[in-house]
Formats: sequence, C-alpha cells, structure tokens
Amino acid sequence: MRAPMQLQLAVEGIERRRLVLQQACDRLRSPQQRNRLGQFATPAALAREALQYAHQLLGSGPVHFLDPAIGTGSFYAALLQEWPLADVAATGFEIDAHYGEPCRTLWRGTPLRLRLEDFTTAAAPVRRAGRYSLLVCNPPYVRHHHLQSAVKARLQRQSMIASGVRLNGLAGLYAHFITVAHPWMSEDAIAGWLIPSEFMDVNYGRELKRYLLRTVTLLRIHRFDPTEVQFTDALVSSAFVWLRNQKPGNDHPVEFTYGGSLSQPRTRGLVPASRLEGAAKWTGFPAALGSACISAGLTLGDYFRVKRGIATGANAFFIMTAGQAAERGLPRECLRPILPGPRQLDCDEVLADASGEPLLVRGLWLLDCRLPEELIRVQHPQLWRYLEIGSAEFSSRYLCSRRSPWYLQEAREPTFFLCTYMARRGQRGVQRFIFNRSTAIGANSYLMLYPREPLTRFIGGVPARARLVWQVLKNVANEALIAGGRVYGGGLLKLEPGELASVPAPGITALLHN
Ligand SMILES: C[S@@+](CC[C@H](N)C(=O)[O-])C[C@H]1O[C@@H](n2cnc3c(N)ncnc32)[C@H](O)[C@@H]1O
Repeated sequence: MRAPMQLQLAVEGIERRRLVLQQACDRLRSPQQRNRLGQFATPAALAREALQYAHQLLGSGPVHFLDPAIGTGSFYAALLQEWPLADVAATGFEIDAHYGEPCRTLWRGTPLRLRLEDFTTAAAPVRRAGRYSLLVCNPPYVRHHHLQSAVKARLQRQSMIASGVRLNGLAGLYAHFITVAHPWMSEDAIAGWLIPSEFMDVNYGRELKRYLLRTVTLLRIHRFDPTEVQFTDALVSSAFVWLRNQKPGNDHPVEFTYGGSLSQPRTRGLVPASRLEGAAKWTGFPAALGSACISAGLTLGDYFRVKRGIATGANAFFIMTAGQAAERGLPRECLRPILPGPRQLDCDEVLADASGEPLLVRGLWLLDCRLPEELIRVQHPQLWRYLEIGSAEFSSRYLCSRRSPWYLQEAREPTFFLCTYMARRGQRGVQRFIFNRSTAIGANSYLMLYPREPLTRFIGGVPARARLVWQVLKNVANEALIAGGRVYGGGLLKLEPGELASVPAPGITALLHN
C-alpha cells in the first residue's frame, strides 16, 4: 500500500487513466455484447455529482462503500475524490473480467476490494460490521426478456428472501439488483440507484415502488430530461433514486426533481409519501404539484423529529451550576451543558464559545454519567460520594428507580431548534422557538426538533442556514400552535411532541423551494 497522502494525489491521475481504459474496453465489445450485460458507463461528471450528493446525505466520517456493478469504477473514482482516503473502505462487484481485470489493476493499492463475481448470487454479509453505509450503483439495464427463465425465477426468489419483495416477472435486472442489495445495507445506510425511470409508471414497477415507500425511506428521485440524455450510447430516460435504509416515518416528504443536473435540477417539489402511495404514475411529479407543493399538507413532523427534552427524575440533584459542580468535585467528563428552563432563559438565541459551551449568564450542567458504579467508586471518589448521598433520597423516585444504574440519563443529542413545552398566553405570544448554537440539550420543559431530510441537507450544519429555518419557525402563527396544542385554565398552552409535529409547515416548504 502506498502512503495515504500520495494516494490522494494519485487519484486524479488514476481517474484520467480510467476514462481512457473505459473507452478502450467499450471499443472491444460489440453493442450487442454490451447490451447483454448492460455495460454502459456513468459519465464521470454525473458520478462526481452523485458522490457529492451522497456525501451531503451521509455526512463526514468513515464510509463503507459498495458498488454491486462497478465496471471500471466511475463511482469509486468519485468516492475517492470526495472522501479522505483514510475514511474509505470499499467493495465492488463485476461479473465480466473484460472490465473487472483492468479495474482491479487500475485501482491496486487503493482501499477497493474487487470481487469478480455475479453480485446477485453472492451471499449478503451476515454480521452487521460487514454491511455497507453507502451504496451507489448504475446496475445493468437488462430487460426481462433477455433474462433466461431459470435466472429470472432465481432472481425472484432471491428478491423475496432479501427484502420481502415479490418482483413482477416483467421487471428488469436492475430492479432485482435493488431488492437483492437490501441486506447489504447497514441500518441508516444511504443508497443511490441510477436506473431507467420506466418503473415509475408501469404496472410491473408497482412492487419496487412499494418497497421504496414501505421498507426504506425514499428521499429523492431525480429524473433526467430524456431530451438531455445522460448516456450518449444508451437511449434510456434515467432516474437517480436515493433512499435511506430506515423504516419510513409517518407520511414523510419525498423530493422530486427533474431536468438539468442532480445538483441543479430545473424543477423540484416535495410530495408527501401518502400521495405517492395513491399515484399510479410518478413521472408526473414534480410538475403535477404546481403551486400545490406549498399547500401539500406537510407539517413540522415531516421536517423534524420532535422529542421531549430529557426527564432527569430529580432536577435538584442532576442539574447544577458550574460552581456547584466544582464544589462537589464532579469530573468534567460526567457533565454536559443543559439549558435553563424557559423562564430563566432570557434570550431566544443561545450562542456558544469555541468548544460549544453555551454563553449564558446562568449556565447549567447536567450530571450525565454512563460509568458503572464499580468504576466510579475507584476512579471518581468525589462523584461516588455525591451519588451515595443522592441515592438515599432520589434512587427510589419513579424515573430513577426504573433506570439501571439509577443515575443514568436519557440519551439526547443537541439540536439547533427547541420549542418551549408550555406557555402562558399573553406573556410573550405563545410558545417560543429557541435557536441553540451550543452543545446544550434541553430538559422536558422543552421540545427538541431534529431536522429530517431534506431539511438536514438544506442546513448542512451551517448556522446561517439553520438561522433561516429558525426564522420560519418563529413565524409559525400563534393560531396554528393553539390549534395544535391544548389550552388549560388560566390560558396555559401545552404542546406535546405529536401536537407540535402536526402543525402545518408551509414556511419550511417554501424555504426549501426558493
Ligand atoms: C451500467 S454498467 C455500470 C458500470 C459502472 N459502475 C459505471 O457506472 O460506469 C453495469 C456493470 O455491471 C456489470 N454487471 C452486469 N451484470 C452483473 C452482475 N450480475 N453482477 C455484477 N456485475 C454485473 C456489467 O458488466 C457492467 O460493467
């Protein structure tokens, strides 16, 4: 293996050689031969865009990549230009040694494991660690009548076993690739499939569409304009289908884009999954939405997972000021910032220092220790003493007594957006939306809003974009919040997570479309 830095520099050179190699391999094959195995390479520019998009969806960090029909490796080349080499582990399948052998030689010394095999007969990884977090593939477009009947029957059986999908006998090989690949994906994996768009409208695409709506979370379909065909040598109208290996949420929005390129489509729209369930033809989207994409009935729950903040079980014991934590000698690694309750929080935007700690006059800390008692006793005697004192009074309380160990806290990630759980009408409007730029979490006097796709992608971790979303949230009409929540005596308005999720969100829809 060459050193990683040298490899990074070498990738662009290898990619140039790959493009020459691709042409040479194609020239040595007749169109009939290439048709038989669906051998039409993805243009390098499209592969780059696809991997850039995948990067946005997946975020940074190690990537375990699979291309089940790798050819000479157009997507793999783009992967290496997008992710640092040290973060990449990859596998590619190729049935035809004519492309597979040169591919193996070309990428030798890079983190690619090339398997010269038929992907559809390979056994899926049994262990979780062997599964893939990113799958991007341009599978062979082999039509069903070019599949021998024994092969077709085997593929149908395998699709059934792999993903529970009984594909229609008229489905092409590409559809089987998608369903057979299902158990290769790790939980929450992202997959991008570049396939013919015909499945969106024809009867034999129904099972595939059901898989996309019910087994995984369909994120986006980009359809290329057939008049701007992407593949000069295969006149098909193609679509890039993006999904996450996650059970779908309740009527989540699916992004439909059309024409132009993946990164700069000509038109776009969000379609609630329920609308797709009932639609025989999907190629009508996004055009069919017209201005309806604004009033398509999407709610905050389509854009955010809404969770109540944590219930500590005993705030007086677990939440404290920095001074109290120091007095008690509690170790820093067992403390995390937590926002003061809404009444003590005198700003709606929480700023942070360079380490992410909130810049608040009255900063608070949560005792959040995941260590077992035996370790604490040995490693942190002062914390152990504090827990012993607390145990007498608090360990038998309802929530603490149900946790093991009793001082364990719920796991919650920080988020940019919080909403107060209760409000009294007339004080400051109704509920307040907080823009949290720190790593603090909230207790159960807040609801925490975690963006879903496509909002996550829109924000992309950039505070200025998150601020735009916050501004829209602040403009959610009081009436909509009141209609969604429950008003108690004295004008007290409470919003449960499901109630906030049901509040219409036309402002967010509009933001994503501008
Ligand atoms: C549409 S091409 C895509 C090649 C490359 N990934 C790209 O995007 O440029 C499909 C590739 O899959 C290969 N292939 C066809 N059937 C296959 C199978 N059952 N298992 C693995 N590879 C297969 C073909 O030889 C061809 O190289």
